[in-house]
Amino acid sequence: MKKQLNVVGNLTFLYKMKLIGPFSQLITLRGMPLKGPLADDQLELLYGGGIVVDIGRIVAVGRFEDLHKQYPAAEVEEVIGQQTLLPGFVDAHTHICFAGNRAPDYALRVAGKSYLEIAEAGGGIWDSVIQTRAASQAALAQQTAARANSALRAGVTSMEVKSGYGLDVENELKMLRAIADARTLTPADLFATCLAAHIKPRDFNANDMAYLHHVLAVLLPIVRSEGLANRTDIFIEQTAFSQSEGRYYLQRAGQMGFELTVHADQFTPGGSVTAVACGAVSADHLEASTPHEIKLLAESNTVAVALPGASLGLGMDFVPARKLLDAGACLAIASDWNPGSAPMGDLLVQGSVLSAYQKLTLAETLAGLTFRAAYALRLTDRGTLENGRIADMQAYQTADYRDILYHQGTLKPIQVWKYGKPIR
Ligand code: NIG
Ligand code: FE
Repeated sequence: MKKQLNVVGNLTFLYKMKLIGPFSQLITLRGMPLKGPLADDQLELLYGGGIVVDIGRIVAVGRFEDLHKQYPAAEVEEVIGQQTLLPGFVDAHTHICFAGNRAPDYALRVAGKSYLEIAEAGGGIWDSVIQTRAASQAALAQQTAARANSALRAGVTSMEVKSGYGLDVENELKMLRAIADARTLTPADLFATCLAAHIKPRDFNANDMAYLHHVLAVLLPIVRSEGLANRTDIFIEQTAFSQSEGRYYLQRAGQMGFELTVHADQFTPGGSVTAVACGAVSADHLEASTPHEIKLLAESNTVAVALPGASLGLGMDFVPARKLLDAGACLAIASDWNPGSAPMGDLLVQGSVLSAYQKLTLAETLAGLTFRAAYALRLTDRGTLENGRIADMQAYQTADYRDILYHQGTLKPIQVWKYGKPIR
């Protein structure tokens, strides 16, 4: 079979059909429901499995020996020792485009100050805005890619990345352009979201509504015309924007064609009601959601995105993930990696710890990190191992998939593939 030069995603490389395996276990995550509780016996496990990849996509999944006979021309990429294969993780909520650090906030927080007290005293998001405004587009691109590459080595093959530390037209565009530049510096797929509505910047001399109007009238048209992001986010909270301001912003941004997502119910409930009413693809955080919000989310197609890294960073309760699933919601798990509330940035540690505290089955946790997370970004080409999906995969050195969450994130992938290409 001839080698061909192919462009796949943001990668260009020589590609030849190959058969990868044999894997002790191959967890496909295919054929599972998008919403509601999952039992571990709903997971499809293939023993002695293999996977055939061509031009970055999966063309066959099955028993390695059978595939070897069916695809005699495929080059074999042999797996050494006992390994378990999973789809790459999708991190549907991050703020990895930032400069500087908020270790001083953390020191205050562990000494007893609350997140809101620190923000009101001049720390918090605004401190990251100052540091990010001072950074160049090139430096931001480099730091974003470095974080994406470290997540990629830990099995995260796709990441959403928000702006939201620029908070004026020039600096929001700088952040979004840096995210675009970062795509040339990492094999991971990066999906940008405009979070200019993170908080009203302190140097904007008018009220919240005027700021949102400014974002809608001036910034979003440029974001759209430059193709910098097709998603937008707003932080609905007492210290950020109200529900009625959120509704105003989301309705208009939706009319402009943006996909909508909301930072909702982090400290006080209600933001998710607005998210659902406005048809947001996801409502993220939800630590403070009450039975009312849980019911509305469960009845909607808005994905409930748990951010356990923020609970760990702030020392606060976890999202009621068990209740959300039992009510019938689609639950995804994301890192929220940011310099303030969630500096750890290790999605597997966070998903494992959330599952221990919220009594999530292994299937629910793995679904929340893969195909349910892909649905939070409305991506239908990834998150499971099945024909036609892109070959984003990760293997762990174990013969039993249960070891992965059991080690609570300390067992790292031995190999990660992006569009079928090993990353190391
Ligand atoms: O998701 N809640 C608002 N935004 C971020 C925090 C950002 C920051 O503290 O810098 C979050 O937790
Ligand atoms: Fe966030």
